[in-house]
Amino acid sequence: MSDIELRVSKIKDGTVIDHIRGGYALDVIKILGITGKEKRVITIAINVQSKRFGVKDILKIEGRALNPQEVNKIALVAPHASINIVRNYKVVEKVEVKLPQRIEGIIKCVNPCCISKSEEPVIPKFYVKSEEPLVLKCHYCGITLEQSDVLQQL
Ligand code: CTP
Ligand code: ZN
Repeated sequence: MSDIELRVSKIKDGTVIDHIRGGYALDVIKILGITGKEKRVITIAINVQSKRFGVKDILKIEGRALNPQEVNKIALVAPHASINIVRNYKVVEKVEVKLPQRIEGIIKCVNPCCISKSEEPVIPKFYVKSEEPLVLKCHYCGITLEQSDVLQQL
């Protein structure tokens, strides 16, 4: 490490979300409902150099785990993120996020006439047409959702 570099501190216990697509850490923050008032130590790095992806974001959260629903949402904005569970300074578990081919029950269709919007409980279902930028297609009405439509709902 040279004089001008200062490495971001390791965390003791908590979660490190690494390899977030550059510029998307604040979307992950929003998904997790983090406001900054939680009295937790949170570290955010945006657009830092990455060997694998050119640039990446990193989010470190002390004393907090993620639930599966949160992980599924993170996959929509950061399809190549890795989630590291840290205990006593050691990475004890590493999960590579993966965007499934089919997205069920996380986001709603934007077409007001879509059958998934009816009173009957129908689970919204989408097919992933593109990962970056994210494009989803509704299973029921065929309408296309762009990345911005998805981000708005998370
Ligand atoms: N990390 C941390 N605090 C710790 C341990 C790890 O903040 N106590 C962070 C590291 O800085 C890194 C991420 O968690 O950003 C993953 O750690 P590690 O698996 O040790 O790093 P790599 O081997 O580089 O991970 P990968 O192979 O996923 O790139
Ligand atoms: Zn639809």
